[in-house]
Amino acid sequence: MATRLPRATPHWPLLGCVPSLLMNPKACMEDNQRRHGDIYTVSGLGQQVVIVNHPRHVEHIKLLNAGNYHTGKGNPMAQFIIPGAISTTDQEAWRLRRRLLQPYFTRAHMVRLFPRLLESIDTELDTWEGEHDLDKICSHLSMKVLIKTVFGASATSEEIERVRLALDYVVEYPIRIAVSHLMSSWWSRLGLPGAKHALSTFTEVIDDIIERHEPSTDEDQDVLSRLIMATEEHEDTLDRRWVVHQVLELILAGYETTSSTIAWLLVRLATDARVFDNVRREVDAGVGEGAWSLQRLRRLEYLQATASEVLRLYPAAYLFWSQCMADDVIDGYAVPQGHKVAISAYAVQRHPDAWEQPDHFVPERFVGATKLDKHAFVPFGIGHRQCLGQELALQEIHTTLARIVMRFDYTVDGATEDLSPRFGIALRPQNRIGIRLAPRQVAARHMSRADEDRWPQGLRSCVAVSPEARRSRRHRRS
Ligand code: HEM
Repeated sequence: MATRLPRATPHWPLLGCVPSLLMNPKACMEDNQRRHGDIYTVSGLGQQVVIVNHPRHVEHIKLLNAGNYHTGKGNPMAQFIIPGAISTTDQEAWRLRRRLLQPYFTRAHMVRLFPRLLESIDTELDTWEGEHDLDKICSHLSMKVLIKTVFGASATSEEIERVRLALDYVVEYPIRIAVSHLMSSWWSRLGLPGAKHALSTFTEVIDDIIERHEPSTDEDQDVLSRLIMATEEHEDTLDRRWVVHQVLELILAGYETTSSTIAWLLVRLATDARVFDNVRREVDAGVGEGAWSLQRLRRLEYLQATASEVLRLYPAAYLFWSQCMADDVIDGYAVPQGHKVAISAYAVQRHPDAWEQPDHFVPERFVGATKLDKHAFVPFGIGHRQCLGQELALQEIHTTLARIVMRFDYTVDGATEDLSPRFGIALRPQNRIGIRLAPRQVAARHMSRADEDRWPQGLRSCVAVSPEARRSRRHRRS
């Protein structure tokens, strides 16, 4: 017999706990998890959302009973902004869209994109010396790289800034937009004018970029050429507006997520000299001043582990939405048909059942890790709706980090002591963070085994890596 789901508190008549969620979503969700456990329901304004927080819930919803949870139907904000896109459709409509773009995001295709990616990162880093707003420079970099690499197009700094400011509205107020959208009455419109204005600015800029875009002669090199070609093949059903929507989806999905991950990486490295030194030594030894290739970058195990640890602590997509299509039971609790379900990747990736010292920043847990619970580390989702742009995002994050530690020394200011995030559309730092970059002073040098073994012994106790895995890694090296 399934149990009734506990209801989130505080609960006001009609409004439910929506006001607390709007005021401080992170505190509200953490508080409810403490009071009610890993699964509870949030209700208010006529809506019911089930929030789940445990790795076994990920397994149930995304793998074991995935057919019963429709992702496209689940995300209220995305439905409003990009109806008919990959992330907002299900079943056949989703399959068609995903199939069209999948070939441009495979691991193999990334090898071809790498020179373009490296060049656009370097061009952007050329402007980084000096003092900046961290969020702003990471956003610029992420947007430029995305537009150049994925769409084979270029955008001016002024265009990037317009799009960035417009998207900032959407990024800053996701819950406000989602709540407005959920309400069917007249006052739902109160929250929307800002979002509508933001979206029309975005459309104007993208229209201009499409106008100037020169179709690639090698058709499988850029997504924009493929999208435009699709409108020629299906003149009756697909038009320029459809192309703009697809571009909007990829930018929305790929820009803030990647940029906030890079920003968190820079903050965490600036506040942890040990990890910074390890990353830099590995980059010096692995690629250094030599020719940069994707193959060499993919061998930088510690750098990748550091990025994974940041993605674990600060998963940019921290809530995955879906809709329950038929009555279900999760962990003994009844989940009725029609309820929205939100998996908190943030809570799952810090769950004490899966991670030792879950709030500590310890990249070593991912070095040689063979025993990680795959349901407990899902920064890019899991199952058939896993992130389309995962390989691109990882490649961009790893390359940017490697180039920054090669080229600059830097400090940050404004980070809070506990480095806890704020829940927006992605996870952002609590305060505005400044960064000061100077050309690197210490010359590149090669990492030795002795350097590597200098990782403090005390850390071993919170690394979720088996001794066998560590032994086999040493064996591979020697
Ligand atoms: C650090 C960067 C990124 C993170 C953390 C991230 C995370 C995610 C997650 C968790 C999902 C699945 C959500 C769910 O199960 O409901 C997803 C889906 C998606 N992502 Fe990403 N993403 C990133 C970068 C990108 C990039 C660069 C692109 C493309 C340019 C992209 C395009 C997409 C698309 C199209 C989907 C929808 C897939 C589908 O529904 O089939 N993402 N992303």
